Amino acid sequence: MKVVVIQGPNLNMLGVREQHIYGPMKLEDIHKNMEEAAKQQKITLEFFQSNFEGEIVDRIQECLGDADGIIINPAAYSHTSIAIRDALSAVQLPTIEVHISNIYAREEFRKKSITAEVATSVLSGFGPFGYHLALMAMHQILSELARIKAQQTNQKT
Ligand code: DQA
Repeated sequence: MKVVVIQGPNLNMLGVREQHIYGPMKLEDIHKNMEEAAKQQKITLEFFQSNFEGEIVDRIQECLGDADGIIINPAAYSHTSIAIRDALSAVQLPTIEVHISNIYAREEFRKKSITAEVATSVLSGFGPFGYHLALMAMHQILSELARIKAQQTNQKT
């Protein structure tokens, strides 16, 4: 199983930016923890962070035929980017959207995520632990899909 973790703008500033909202953990430490957990689940992870909308669109498109699932925090683009939403719709992969903060408990403009509307599932407000939960959930989703696929193959033979 291969899962691509895509991080949007300003998430490279975790540990520095607004610690009262996002906490003290750096992005690389979040990724290290995910890597540890992924090993146990036999999941291969690839990480990508960009502050540029088009680069995020490109990375999502590259997942087609290459990855089994996407874990994404589109950050501020969640609230604005039809391009990222369309890319997620186009590749049709199991997708979990993560927000470190609870976007529903913040400013009005953060309460709507247009990318979440095309995601399989959304986790918001669990802090950095949300990424760990997303990984566990993705393992569950992909295992279930593999089980259904195997069952369908058996039925044909
Ligand atoms: C965020 C929430 C967004 O509203 C914000 O623009 C971010 C981070 C989160 O993880 O809580 O950059 O996606």
